[in-house]
Amino acid sequence: MTLDKINPTKTKSWKKLKSLKSTVDLKTLFKNDNDRLKKYSISIDELYVDYSKNLIDDEILNLLINLSKECKLRDAIDKQFTGEKINETEDRAVLHTALRSFDKKSPFFEVLQKDRKKIKDFSDGIIDGTFSSSTGKKFTDIVNIGIGGSDLGPVMVVEALKYYKTDLNIHFVSNIDGDHVSEILKNLNPETTFFIIVSKTFTTQETITNALTIKEWLCEKLNEKAIKSHFAAVSTNLNAIKDFGINPKFVFPMYDFIGGRFSLWGTVGLSISLAIGYQNFEKLLKGANSMDLHFKNEPFEKNIPVILALISIWYNNFLDAESEAIIPYSEYLKYLPSYLQQAVMESNGKSVDRNGNFIKYQTGNIIWGGSGTNAQHAFFQLIHQGTKLIPCDFIGFKKSLYGNDDHHNKLLSNFIGQSEALLNGIGLDDVKTEMLISQESHDKMDKIAPFKVFEGNKPTTTILFNNLTPKSLGMLISMYEHKIFTQGIIWNIFSYDQWGVELGKKLAAKLLTEIQTGKIKKHDDSSTFLLKKTKITKN
Ligand code: F6P
Repeated sequence: MTLDKINPTKTKSWKKLKSLKSTVDLKTLFKNDNDRLKKYSISIDELYVDYSKNLIDDEILNLLINLSKECKLRDAIDKQFTGEKINETEDRAVLHTALRSFDKKSPFFEVLQKDRKKIKDFSDGIIDGTFSSSTGKKFTDIVNIGIGGSDLGPVMVVEALKYYKTDLNIHFVSNIDGDHVSEILKNLNPETTFFIIVSKTFTTQETITNALTIKEWLCEKLNEKAIKSHFAAVSTNLNAIKDFGINPKFVFPMYDFIGGRFSLWGTVGLSISLAIGYQNFEKLLKGANSMDLHFKNEPFEKNIPVILALISIWYNNFLDAESEAIIPYSEYLKYLPSYLQQAVMESNGKSVDRNGNFIKYQTGNIIWGGSGTNAQHAFFQLIHQGTKLIPCDFIGFKKSLYGNDDHHNKLLSNFIGQSEALLNGIGLDDVKTEMLISQESHDKMDKIAPFKVFEGNKPTTTILFNNLTPKSLGMLISMYEHKIFTQGIIWNIFSYDQWGVELGKKLAAKLLTEIQTGKIKKHDDSSTFLLKKTKITKN
């Protein structure tokens, strides 16, 4: 059974939402409704989500919830969790939720449980030295070779949870840029380094090129036999793994029902399990699973991913917002925005609907961001005073991991202060009063005051956890995954394919031959010139 194919713009709720004229003034809404925060916040476990500072009221929210119902969201959720082939263009189920389910009735439970055991045994073996190097040494460094979904999730999580780190140092090689791999290799001891090649297809140019370069390096520094003790591979392409010469003991399967950008929860997360130990890896899975159950079972009115997705649709399709900013107030989460760029933009950056027709409404959001407070000193000017509407997610933690209260209080005061400032802004009269109090001249006040006005009424959502733990991180990532799913369902697109990245791959392959042979074929003038210019530079 496939997903329903409903054009959202034809629903009653969409039409009503389009006809709403009044602008929402947050300050007035807070003043007029003492229950606003209570109504517009949800707590589960140690997570608190406050969406009261968004440009919504009861009428808008009710219509958005009706929209999700008219678009058959509940049915779609059920189909996803039970393993229906909702990735229709690739004829695949979408079961990353199964990777973190410990319920025996979950699809593929036994096979996935077997993988978990394999991840555990492997991680334990490398960490305690049972699996040693070709020269009998304990491994000290792990290099993950992969790109896109085979890189971004592990990179983000390993960085985010480095407080929980084992003795192993984890490195990531992704870019085809040879300087990337050279920079990583130059500081590594081949005798104590283990490499994991992660590629769902095992054909991705970047990953295979890097893997072959590294293989050559290892053979040169040690010998060919070392490959068997120094390489593992994670892939669906078992034949290609064999051809590469990977020890069958270190082969980890992947499945077509797990999309690359949703794969960190299984064998792709091997580097995570090595980085923080299997017990912590399992806590990450359990955190994600608790959010899965919340998403699956809660009514939409109190369902965090659904509410966040609907608010985002409100901005994207009705208030013409073009992007969303993700601002984690934790340096550990500095890679979260780039991880979410792939998850969100590769999933929902589509312009053909599930009927195969071109879409005449906006879909995928542009995601960007950076860690607070650094971001405040970089792009917050535009969020506060620019002309664009940029809804922001502020992600924070009540406690710091090292317990430095002085720093953490300052961090929290920025975390809360920024969303308050974005809400309230500051009007001309108040600016002038402030300037008078600081004894500025009247002339200067008249001239400068307009530039100091902050319009306010800028929307933010606050996502607050007690601590950054494997469990809370699991919940956070899963929350965004389900937000992506919900938006894709309502936009009537397929979120789990990525045909848009294929054209570039094909073109790069063609051009490579021209660059290698020097025989430049016919292109547009700009490309021909660049090809010739690169050739000259090379010679
Ligand atoms: O960038 C496109 C893409 O197909 C991603 O979806 C995927 O995560 C990445 O390439 C890597 O693919 P693979 O795991 O097959 O090497």
